[in-house]
Amino acid sequence: SSGEVEDPKDEFQELLQTLEQKTSWSGTQLVKYNGFWFPVRAFKPVLSVQKYFKAKDSDIILCTLPKSGTTWLKALTFCIVNRHIYTIDQSPLLTSNPHTVVPFLEINLYWEQENPNLEHIRTPRIFGTHLPFSFLLQSIHESECKAIYICRNPLDQFVSFWHFMSKNEREKDGDPLAIDEAFDMFCHGINQFGPFWDHVLEYWNARLNNSQKVLFLKYEDLKEDVTLYIKKIAEFIGYPFSLEEEKQGLIQQIANLCSFSNLSNLDTNKKGKIIGMFDNSTYFRKGEVGDWANYLTPAMGERIEKLMENKLEGSGLVF
Ligand code: A3P
Repeated sequence: SSGEVEDPKDEFQELLQTLEQKTSWSGTQLVKYNGFWFPVRAFKPVLSVQKYFKAKDSDIILCTLPKSGTTWLKALTFCIVNRHIYTIDQSPLLTSNPHTVVPFLEINLYWEQENPNLEHIRTPRIFGTHLPFSFLLQSIHESECKAIYICRNPLDQFVSFWHFMSKNEREKDGDPLAIDEAFDMFCHGINQFGPFWDHVLEYWNARLNNSQKVLFLKYEDLKEDVTLYIKKIAEFIGYPFSLEEEKQGLIQQIANLCSFSNLSNLDTNKKGKIIGMFDNSTYFRKGEVGDWANYLTPAMGERIEKLMENKLEGSGLVF
C-alpha cells in the first residue's frame, strides 16, 4: 500500500476472529485462548502482559481466579511488605482500597497501554493477576520473583462471582438472575479465567515443581488461622517477622487491619470507586465459608464435588 501506517490492531482482530467465543450468562463476551476463557474486553491486555511483562527478582505476584480472596491477599501482602514504611494506624489501606495499592497487571496496568513503563514503581513491586500460570511462565521463570496463589472452594467462588456479576453487570437490565445457566457454564469450564480446575491445577503443579517460586494458599485455611498464613507469606517472600515483632503483636494487628469486618466498614470501601473498576463495596460481600449452600441445591453441590474429584484426580489437591 502507499506508505500507510499499518493499524496495529489488525493482528489482534485477526487472532480474535480465529478463536472460539461465547456469551456468558452475565452477558460478558468470552474468548477461549490456549485452553482458558477470557473476557473479550480483557483479552488484549492479557496478551500484552504475556508479551511485555518482565518480572524483576524482587517482584511479588498475587495470582487468583476472581472471587477467591484476591482483595484479602492484596491487603495482607501489602501490609507485610510495607510494615517498616507505614505503621498500622497510618496504613494506606485505611484510605484506599486494596486494589488501588496493589494493581492488577491485565485489568489495570496493561489495560490502556500495551507496554506501560513499570520501572518507576517502588520495589518490591506487588501485582495482582488472574492469568493462568502458563501465561506467566516465561516472565516468572526468568526471574527470582515470587508468586502467591490463593484459591477457594469452587462452590463459594462460583456463588461469590455470581453475586458480583449480578450486582455489577445485570443490575441495569433487571433480568432475572440465571444461576442455573451460570452454574451449568461453570461446570463446563466456561467462566472468566476458567476452567476453574485448570487454573488451580496449573498453580498447584507449579508449586509442586518449585516451592520456592509458588506459594499455594486456600481461602478457607486463611479464614481458620490467618496469623499462621501471615507468617507463612512473610517467610515465603523473604520478609519474616522478628521475634520482637511477634511479641509486639504485629501479626495480629495486620490480621485485624485486613479483616473483612475492618476493611468492609471503612469509608473508602463503602463509597469509593477505582477508575475503570467496580464500586469498592462490591469487593466485600459476606466473607464466609460455605455460603454456597444458601444459593445452590445439594444436588448442585454434589455435581461440583464429583466434577472436582474427576478433574483433580491424582493431583493431591482436594477441596
Ligand atoms: P463473598 O462474595 O463470598 O463474600 P476477591 O477479593 O477475589 O474479589 O474475592 C471476593 C470475596 O472475598 C468475597 O466473598 C468477599 O466478601 C471476600 N473478601 C473480601 N475481603 C475479604 C477479607 N478481608 N477477608 C475475608 N474475605 C474477604
